[in-house]
Amino acid sequence: MNNTVKERVLSGIQPTHGSFHLGNYLGAIKQWVDLQNTNDAFYCVVDLHALTVETKPEDFRKRTLASVAQLIALGLDPDKCTLFIQSHVPSHNQLSWVLECLTGFGEASRMTQFKDKSQKAGSDRTVVGLFTYPILQAADILLYQANKVPVGEDQRQHIELTRDLGQRFNSKFGQTFTVPEGYILKAGAKINDLQDPTSKMSKSSSSGGGVIELMDSPEVNTKKIKSAVTDTGREVIFDEKEKPGVSNLLTIYSALTGKTIDQAQNDFAGKGYGDFKSAVAEVVVEYLNPVRERAEELLKDEAHLKKLLKIGAEKADAVASKTLKDVYEALGLIPRG
Ligand code: TYM
Repeated sequence: MNNTVKERVLSGIQPTHGSFHLGNYLGAIKQWVDLQNTNDAFYCVVDLHALTVETKPEDFRKRTLASVAQLIALGLDPDKCTLFIQSHVPSHNQLSWVLECLTGFGEASRMTQFKDKSQKAGSDRTVVGLFTYPILQAADILLYQANKVPVGEDQRQHIELTRDLGQRFNSKFGQTFTVPEGYILKAGAKINDLQDPTSKMSKSSSSGGGVIELMDSPEVNTKKIKSAVTDTGREVIFDEKEKPGVSNLLTIYSALTGKTIDQAQNDFAGKGYGDFKSAVAEVVVEYLNPVRERAEELLKDEAHLKKLLKIGAEKADAVASKTLKDVYEALGLIPRG
């Protein structure tokens, strides 16, 4: 019998669009699937975070369920992990407030994602929720006493803040939180836009032409990959500085085939960019076809998805409310009795 205690893993993803993109999958979800086999894993669709982006209620409802369906289609197994919706567990908001009271205004102002987004929108159109977003994220993680947080490279600073807040609370009020580590793999941690290969693939990309959406048709995705920006020269070589477009496609190819970058390069020795892009398109489409079909199938039975989510929320709530109780007690809040 194996008596070792499994490490706790937590991560989250926003339901801001009808489909996740390949960056979400390779940067985060692929690791979530692997980690559920060896860890006590909690994964949530962070609908409260997504409220920082304006959306129509009916779309929002659909996107949240579509997110859950895609996560299961990509390999999350509700029997192996705890899969839930953030707003189903009220302790997230409750802990977030406590952590807001421990976060410096300057400290929150230095978060680069907030700076970028608020600069683009202007201060009158930037909601306060965007400012406190990383603190709610810290609450998501600390509530579950997570040891590891599998995310893409762009989340490194938010994980750092989470660690700082956990340590700060522990040193002021006594050991309460596990201080987590980011779990950021080198391969796939930053998948770039196919049309602008020095910027990350992002749901908020203006054109959309460089973003591979998991739920798009094979025709659309093939077209996007065949029109990906490549670089000068002719050889298919991994060189992020000189050949960011080719390197990005090689990263995608190697992550989806399980080959190393060297093996991937060898596959295209002596071949031109045209053959290379066709091969990448084929690999992507073949990988995503069954995922899209399975997600569509799952979405036909909303009642089943909701049943799974109810079980997930109950499991998550049991862990989260215990932590929140300890936090309130450590702070000196009087229990209701
Ligand atoms: P979101 O929904 O924006 O992104 C979900 C995950 O996808 C990763 N990612 C990428 N990885 C590689 N290349 C890309 N181009 C790329 N684009 C996105 C992100 O790093 C992320 O891991 N703030 C979080 C959501 C969150 C969260 C949490 C994460 C809320 N609470 C608690 C972990 C733990 C986010 O960026 O979501």
